[in-house]
Amino acid sequence: MRLAGRAAAEILLEVGPHVAPGVTTDRLDEIVHEATIARGGYPSPLNYRGYPKSVCTSVNEVICHGIPDSRALADGDIVNIDVTIFLDGVHGDTSVTFPVGEVSDHDRHLIVETRVALDEGIAAAGPGRPVHAIGRAIQKHANRHGLGVVREFIGHGIGTEFHSGLQIPHYHDPRAQTVLVPGMTFTVEPMLTLGDPACGMWDDDWTAVTLDGCRTAQYEHTLLVTEDGIELLTVTADGTAPADVFAVAAIT
Ligand code: MF3
Ligand code: CO
Ligand code: CO
Repeated sequence: MRLAGRAAAEILLEVGPHVAPGVTTDRLDEIVHEATIARGGYPSPLNYRGYPKSVCTSVNEVICHGIPDSRALADGDIVNIDVTIFLDGVHGDTSVTFPVGEVSDHDRHLIVETRVALDEGIAAAGPGRPVHAIGRAIQKHANRHGLGVVREFIGHGIGTEFHSGLQIPHYHDPRAQTVLVPGMTFTVEPMLTLGDPACGMWDDDWTAVTLDGCRTAQYEHTLLVTEDGIELLTVTADGTAPADVFAVAAIT
């Protein structure tokens, strides 16, 4: 799981610098596909329940599962790139939201606080902690910053399966009573919105969008519960997270 997580982080670090106005999301898909194969892995999204590409690229009002296509990114867009690799029998899953060229202060606020919300969610996790503490921390942060939390898509157990039975809501759901124990591996991947988090679906049955068209951002890590805390698995060998490398400066 460490190696799969590291590979996912490295692939995200490889594709990130290609994000720019004029670049198509199909091109990003190609880069992720090649980088995954080069590491001896398989791109988990490809043919997963019929998903047609090797990565998810979610632009602007797309909440998640955006399918790469021939549209070029435009100055002022925001795009989440969600990389999952299947390596030596297990999956590593991580994503970052990138500004494309110059983005508005609103969008920067959204991206920056979504990143912090992920960190707050992770900080609430640990051995002996209930799963609902994660969503409670994320929702608290979102509320404080005037952002919505998407409820339809949640974090998940991950390992030999891409999505195992464990469910990690990003809002406070007291029903999520599972207690974390050492050895568990799961993702936290909050999707926050500038407006109403209500969700719609394109007729491709994948592309999830905000109903009101407001913009939305997401960050994701794959995590391991250890005896004394949480280990981030989707980091490089020296512990660097893609979200740190592509950090978006807070509004001053
Ligand atoms: N990577 C996504 C997640 O975080 C799942 C994508 S499924 C796909 O769970 F089929 F759309 F790729
Ligand atoms: Co995931
Ligand atoms: Co993902």
